[in-house]
Amino acid sequence: MKTYHPNGTNNLKWWQKATFYQIYPRSFQDTNGDGIGDLQGIINRLDYLVDLGIDAIWISPIFPSPMADFGYDVADYCDIHPMFGDLDTFDRLLAEAHGRNLKIILDYVPNHSSHQHPWFLESRSSRQNPRRDWYIWQDAKADGSPPNNWEAFFGGSAWEWDELTQQYYLHTFLPEQPDLNWRNPEVVEAMYNVLRFWLDRGVDGFRVDAIICLMKDEQFRDNPAVQPGSFWARWGNQLEPRYTMHLPETRQQIRQMRQVLDEYEDRVHIGETSAPEYIDLMPYYGDPLDGYDIPFNFNTLNAPWYAAGMRALIEDYYAVLPPGGWPNFVFGNHDVHRLATRYGHENHRSVGMLLLTLWGIPTMYYGDEIGMEDVFIPLEQRIDPWGINKPETDLGRDPERTPMQWNSSPNAGFTTGKPWLPLADNYTQVNVAAQLADEGSTLNFYKKLLRLRRSLPALHNGSFTFVDGQGDDLLAYQREANGQRLLVCLNFGAAERTIDLSHLTNRAETLLSTHFTNHSGTTFTLRPHESILLQLN
Ligand code: NOJ
Repeated sequence: MKTYHPNGTNNLKWWQKATFYQIYPRSFQDTNGDGIGDLQGIINRLDYLVDLGIDAIWISPIFPSPMADFGYDVADYCDIHPMFGDLDTFDRLLAEAHGRNLKIILDYVPNHSSHQHPWFLESRSSRQNPRRDWYIWQDAKADGSPPNNWEAFFGGSAWEWDELTQQYYLHTFLPEQPDLNWRNPEVVEAMYNVLRFWLDRGVDGFRVDAIICLMKDEQFRDNPAVQPGSFWARWGNQLEPRYTMHLPETRQQIRQMRQVLDEYEDRVHIGETSAPEYIDLMPYYGDPLDGYDIPFNFNTLNAPWYAAGMRALIEDYYAVLPPGGWPNFVFGNHDVHRLATRYGHENHRSVGMLLLTLWGIPTMYYGDEIGMEDVFIPLEQRIDPWGINKPETDLGRDPERTPMQWNSSPNAGFTTGKPWLPLADNYTQVNVAAQLADEGSTLNFYKKLLRLRRSLPALHNGSFTFVDGQGDDLLAYQREANGQRLLVCLNFGAAERTIDLSHLTNRAETLLSTHFTNHSGTTFTLRPHESILLQLN
């Protein structure tokens, strides 16, 4: 029975204790009737977030953008898209959030800009333009075809032909998202100044987009074919991204970005990292710990929902963390289907229990606290380019980006206009107002759990030990710090299961159950899909 001990037990940094909450700003709250959320909407909902009990808000991109990838195509890194507000509204948001002890994290998109960014307009205007080398240009092969076989994540070749200047430019994602050339020191300096622009305004950190793609092979070698059934095949890719992802040079850039953040006090550095094997994620912590505070752990995003599989995922992760490296867990975001849809409606509270009681920083996705599910969007109504370009896959991201369901009024209280994506049919029942009024709701479950997480230090820095021998469908673990002993038990199955704790305690009390059951004693019978958090006396 292995116990994992968090390091630095009592002097935790703010982000080590924080619960992060991702807002997809287009879908949170509209205040001007255009059917798209805005910054004033977030300001209006800050009290809701305080009441919910989260600590930090990460907002997906809010910068000027033609919205080819809904904001991840940035046309000006140092301004706000008028659809969301302006810099004054942003400053107000920051002040209002800070006044409530909430941190604000921005999305930083260094791998690519929009094709409408003035830098790219200059770069593509002529081969002699001083900004030509700010992006990645290559000649065609003798037969006119692209310089190599690299494929774009969102489908097709990663190279786009430019008629005017007779060269190809690289785009890891859409042609509207040309890749910046991070081997050019002028680009590096300009992009660091973007960080400083927002840090000077007072933002508390960044979530850095697509960082694993930042550096590409200098020799532009062809990527090899994927092995059938491999991790990459799952994404509809034909090639393994050997020369386009996870290049060691990227780590040098991360270290330097980190140094920019360290010019300021107490800012958090979060990387959008992912790797099929945990061991390949660890270098993103830096050596020693001079990279990301939070290199996102996405391996739980597509985890199969069964006890032994989940246990292996957690153990494998803890086992390879570098000394001092703090774990984190993500179960939902704007790029994958809603967790209630992936894991099953009956399990979604258990996912929350896991996320908020494991050792590691939780990142929640807006709407998961009320159990929002995917909204079905027929092929002809898809607007996400990934879903449109790869119609044979189930990768389209519109279903998980639909408007927040605030109440049962028309358009769920999200907008007075026409919502940019359809609302869930069930919004008249599944919404914040209805759940606030219902003691046993998912929202009240999350509120209680978040309060417990705040008040129980063992959930932050307590040791972590799996409790063995509880049978197939149960997953149980202990968290312990300074005499406080907690036990979490999840029933993954569709039948009742009993856990016997007599070897651990004389008496345990229920602090919270997904089903709001409330027992004490040494044996606990969990209902199908029930999870419980207990205090061991
Ligand atoms: C990752 C983001 O999460 C995703 O939404 C976006 O499309 C790509 N990076 C490209 O920026």
